[in-house]
Amino acid sequence: MFGFLLAQCGLALAFFIFVFCPTFTYFQDPKRLRRFPSVSIAGFTNAWGVLHQYRYTRTSAVHKAHQRYGNIVRIGPTHVSFATTQAIKDMYGHGTKATKDHFYRALESTHLNVSDSQDRTVHSIKRRRFAQALAQKSIVDLEGMMRPHLQAMITHIDNHRKSPYSSSPVDMKFVILATLYDLNSVVMFSENPKFLERNTLVYAAETITGNTYDADLYQAFFRGGHVSSTVGWAPKSVNLMRALSWWNQDWERGGEGRDITIRFLRNRIRMDTALIKEGKPPMEDLMTTLLWDKEKSPLCLEFGELITEAMNMFSAAGENTEIGATNVIYLIARHPKAAKKLCQELDAALGSDKGTLPTYDAIKDLPYLRACIDEGLRLRPSIELGLPRIVSKGGMHVSGEWLEEGTTISVSTRTIHRDGTIFGENPDEFVPERWLQPDSKDMQRGYLAFSQGGRACVGRNIALFEMQLIIATLFWKYNLTLPSPEWELGIKEGFSAHTLALPMNLRPRR
Ligand code: HEM
Repeated sequence: MFGFLLAQCGLALAFFIFVFCPTFTYFQDPKRLRRFPSVSIAGFTNAWGVLHQYRYTRTSAVHKAHQRYGNIVRIGPTHVSFATTQAIKDMYGHGTKATKDHFYRALESTHLNVSDSQDRTVHSIKRRRFAQALAQKSIVDLEGMMRPHLQAMITHIDNHRKSPYSSSPVDMKFVILATLYDLNSVVMFSENPKFLERNTLVYAAETITGNTYDADLYQAFFRGGHVSSTVGWAPKSVNLMRALSWWNQDWERGGEGRDITIRFLRNRIRMDTALIKEGKPPMEDLMTTLLWDKEKSPLCLEFGELITEAMNMFSAAGENTEIGATNVIYLIARHPKAAKKLCQELDAALGSDKGTLPTYDAIKDLPYLRACIDEGLRLRPSIELGLPRIVSKGGMHVSGEWLEEGTTISVSTRTIHRDGTIFGENPDEFVPERWLQPDSKDMQRGYLAFSQGGRACVGRNIALFEMQLIIATLFWKYNLTLPSPEWELGIKEGFSAHTLALPMNLRPRR
């Protein structure tokens, strides 16, 4: 009897929380959002966004909603998605009143990092640290660091071609990911984990209490990103959702990414300690910016802050650049005319002695190479979801609409990137030539691959530098072909739009 009563009370409470309150709030409409068309049940509940994200379909669902309802669509009880260039200016541009949405809190660990921080003052201190470090890491320095990794990439491919498995394709996603993880580990922690040489993304992890084990770095970031961005679309219920999804192993996998970073960090701190004991200056890498100030006095940041900043840079720098490069390589290989044009441009710039590696100086201004990258990032951006912002105190206008404080707003990157009024004819097609037209600069107003304004990507130049070198090296040296001309590269979207494996056949070009 008591159990029956308890069940009835539970049901009544669930009805009150999940049905009555959302319906009441929807009709009460405190933020006056009912004037916008709403997709499915999104006006009532965040479940629409959460479920789509969980099933990797959120970005396409938002894009379809824009195709059906127009440039402004309600995609959550307090979330409105836009698809206009004015909205880009209003919510991402310099001087915007909008800040990062509470969505980012779900990605947070014990401390905030440069990408998650909402407070402007905290963000500007953090961003300045990295901006200085990335500017100091001049392209000349980075090229010297990158060359051994480019060489390792070529050796890996050539070894495969000479092996008994030469008739099976090479997974170029793995090759690029391992190359970039190796490079970034050196740039950040002065340590080369040799992922590519060892043919695995597994590395040593260490818990905060010192237990060691092995874990897969990519799976950790990918699966952790999936589950935390899923709950991020219900930011007020993050703790409840975490508790309800305790069974989901992605939480545990995400923790492994933190533990690999802890091991890297402890090793890195040991290196500095040893140097200082010998009376020498500390190491010079990206971690220096988090450990020491300009006068080489210790910054004494808490260990939790070091972990979250390092993890963020690892995934921001490694994965987004890998996704970008993988997508561009796939798109060029899928379009033989573009591949031919690119190879002609590379041959003219680099000559026929393919025994060397291209220098950055020789390729940095090649227009068709750059057009292929810009076009690839337009059609298949590394971060394709609408980057969520929140309207701060006092409200603001977005694309001519007044929005109340606390409203979540975003621009659907996929939708705006496929807008023919901005990008010209055939916006769904891969046409690098569109970036070579006299008025192509005008397309930047709708280009969100690196976002825009004060929260835009701080590593854009480094990402372009790395992609230019990787793509030029591959297409100069090899003919890259897909399993079949119509073969399609799948995507599974967490926070970033991760591609699946990219099996390719590579034959040396003579
Ligand atoms: C093709 C490669 C890359 C793409 C497409 C990309 C894209 C983006 C985008 C769209 C944002 C805005 C995210 C948001 O608003 O939530 C962002 C932010 C950021 N990116 Fe990148 N990124 C790339 C590579 C890199 C690299 C190589 C680094 C570091 C060396 C980096 C570091 C960052 C950081 C620290 C932020 C946060 C900036 C802030 O909030 O002030 N990214 N990136």
